[in-house]
Amino acid sequence: MTRSTLLQTVTVLLQNQSHVLKDARLLVAHACNCSLEDLRAHPERSVSSRTVSRAKAFGRKRAQDTPMAYILGYRDFFGRRFIVNKHVLIPRPETEHLVEEAVRLVSKNSSHHTLFLDIGTGSGAVAVTLAAETRQHVVATDTSRSALRVACKNARSLDVDTLVEYKHGSLLQPIKPSYLHGFDQVILLANLPYLTFELLEDSPREVVAYEPIQALVSDENDGLDLYREMLMECAARRRAFPQNTQILLEIDPRQALVAETMVQEILPHTTISILPDLAGHPRVVCLSDF
Ligand SMILES: C[S@@+](CC[C@H](N)C(=O)[O-])C[C@H]1O[C@@H](n2cnc3c(N)ncnc32)[C@H](O)[C@@H]1O
Repeated sequence: MTRSTLLQTVTVLLQNQSHVLKDARLLVAHACNCSLEDLRAHPERSVSSRTVSRAKAFGRKRAQDTPMAYILGYRDFFGRRFIVNKHVLIPRPETEHLVEEAVRLVSKNSSHHTLFLDIGTGSGAVAVTLAAETRQHVVATDTSRSALRVACKNARSLDVDTLVEYKHGSLLQPIKPSYLHGFDQVILLANLPYLTFELLEDSPREVVAYEPIQALVSDENDGLDLYREMLMECAARRRAFPQNTQILLEIDPRQALVAETMVQEILPHTTISILPDLAGHPRVVCLSDF
């Protein structure tokens, strides 16, 4: 069989999906271990029966809504390639806003030392990107050991393992006060689970059926309980943080008002702004002077 015939076979398997041709090309290139350019340039090349079986298996998985990132084993984020598997949330484009804002906040004074805290790191996409973009230190936490294993691999493959430290545990509990010593600035970022089961129902089947539920859903209340708990931990440890500390939280746009109220209750003296995503929806809650 040629690559071109295999592409037609996989395209038929994906008939009920959106982006049929794009996905079919990616899956066939992945099965052939070649680039998209090579696939396009040499459609006449013959493929082994093993490659045919692999491509069909990928096609059947996709037809059952398995996310492309889990089949391919990677997702690109902020211009870099991250390993992903079923234990981690697939990094989302909207989370790039959180990273952009954190990079913007890093003090321009070259003698300043900034520490990033990435709470709920998942694949490590945020932690690794911050280290790679700024060459500053990052401490990242997660309650999932399987996720932390993926995050460590990403730090190694993107060559920032000397800058990023991973800690297992809930919220700020693994962050010892001594970790903050010697830093003039701390930027705490969190993209913690913030959906309720009701909000989750609005998500596509490939999210609901395949992504880890403990990376998506927080509580039955308003989805913000993990953020509430984390901000209370910040308030209790206020003195351990330097004066120059900022907190950035990713939210669902439908939570903007309730998030603002939550912050005012827990950190009444903080300055709050909420940044929009590319669609203009409120997405990143920024807190300073807390
Ligand atoms: C929405 S995912 C975000 C992953 C990653 N930060 C990203 O933006 O792609 C949330 C992550 O928080 C972790 N998590 C859930 N509860 C946690 C807790 N109490 N403390 C720390 N991490 C937690 C989950 O295991 C999951 O990896």
